[in-house]
Amino acid sequence: MNENSNSSTTILPTSSSNGQQLQWGTQNAPAAKAETTRAIIYQSDVMGQLLKMIDRVAPSQANVLVMGESGTGKELIARAIHDRSNRKSKPFVAINCGALRETLLESELFGHEKGSFTGAYNRKMGLAEVANGGTLFLDEIGELSPGIQAKLLRFIQEGEIYRVGGKEPIKVDIRLISATNRDLEQEVANNHFREDLYYRINTIVVTTPPLRRRKEDIPVLISHFLNQSHHAYLNRGRKVSEEAMQSLMKYDWPGNIRELQNVCERLQILSEGHEIMLGDLPDHIRTPEKNDKFIEYDPQLPLYELEKKYILKALDFYGGNKTQAATNLGITIKTLYNKLHEYGEFDKYAVHTRPTK
Ligand SMILES: Nc1ncnc2c1ncn2[C@@H]1O[C@H](COP(=O)(O)OP(=O)(O)O)[C@@H](O)[C@H]1O
Ligand SMILES: [Mg+2]
Repeated sequence: MNENSNSSTTILPTSSSNGQQLQWGTQNAPAAKAETTRAIIYQSDVMGQLLKMIDRVAPSQANVLVMGESGTGKELIARAIHDRSNRKSKPFVAINCGALRETLLESELFGHEKGSFTGAYNRKMGLAEVANGGTLFLDEIGELSPGIQAKLLRFIQEGEIYRVGGKEPIKVDIRLISATNRDLEQEVANNHFREDLYYRINTIVVTTPPLRRRKEDIPVLISHFLNQSHHAYLNRGRKVSEEAMQSLMKYDWPGNIRELQNVCERLQILSEGHEIMLGDLPDHIRTPEKNDKFIEYDPQLPLYELEKKYILKALDFYGGNKTQAATNLGITIKTLYNKLHEYGEFDKYAVHTRPTK
C-alpha cells in the first residue's frame, strides 16, 4: 500500500459480480467488510482515474475545487483528500455556504468578538480558525454572497482573518477545498462569482461524474449500502433478482449516489422475502418512462396537431432560428418551410429574432 494506508478513508477498488444477479450477505459481500462509513466504493475506470488524481493532489498544498452534481460524493472526495494529506491529523472542518444567511455565515466562518452584534454575548472562534493547520471545506461555494466572497479572497491572499467586530488580524493556516454543483465559470461570466476568487480556489479541479455515467458502480454500491446501514441486519443472504437489478441499472439516478443510498435503505425495510424483486422497487425506478418528458397518448390530439405543436415549440426554443430548428428536428429547411406554409405560420417566422441573452 501507499503512505496513506493508515488514513481513515479507505479506497476500495472492488471486485464484484459483473452484474445480473448480485448476492449479498455477511460472508460474500464484495466491498463491505469491516470498512469505515467513509469508504469510497467503485468499479468504474472513471472513478479509478479520479482517485489516482486524488492520490497525486492530496499531499500538495494546492486548493482544490470539487465540481459535480448533488449526491455524487463531493464531500466524500474532499475528506479523502484531507485524509491522504499531511494535514490528516489536523481538523477537517466543513461548512455549507448555502445554509446560512450572510451575517451568520461570516461569524461562523471568521468568528466574532464579544458585543460585535446583538446576541454576540461571548467571543467566538470561527470555523476557519478551528481548521487551523488542517483543511477547510467550503461546500456550495457558489452560494456565497459578494460580501463574503471579498472577505474569503482576502483571507486566502493574506492568510489572516478578522473576527466580526475584531481589529487584530489572526494568522490561520488552512488548505481550502471547495465544492459546487454550479457551473462556476458561468457564474463568473454572469458576475455572480468573483473571477479573482475563482482563480484562487480552483488550482486543481476535480469533477465527480454523475452515477448515470458510471453505471458499473451501481451493483457494488448497492451491495455496500445494503451491508453498511443500520438496517444491514435485514439483509442476510438476500439476493437482488436479475430483473430488479436490470431495472436498477437502467434507471438514471438524478439524485446520484445519495438517491441510491436512500433506495437501498427503503428496500431493506420494505421488501420481504429472500430475493429483492422487481415489484419491491419504487414505481418511478421500475417504470422510468412515466417520468420522461415524453408526452402521454392523448386521444384528442391527432398526429398532425402534435407535429405542428412540436415544430413550433422547436422554433421558439431556437429563438425563431429555422436552420437550427430544422437541423435539430432532423428535417430539411425546405420541409420546415413547407410545414410552416401549411400551418399558415410562415409569415410569423419569416424573420427570426434571436433570443436576448
Ligand atoms: N463512491 C462512493 N462510495 C460510497 N459511498 C458514497 C460514494 N459516493 C457517495 N457516497 C455517499 O453518498 C452520499 C452523498 O455523498 P456526498 O459526498 O454528500 O455528495 P455531494 O457532496 O456531492 O452531494 C454520502 O452519504 C456519501 O457517503
Ligand atoms: Mg454535499
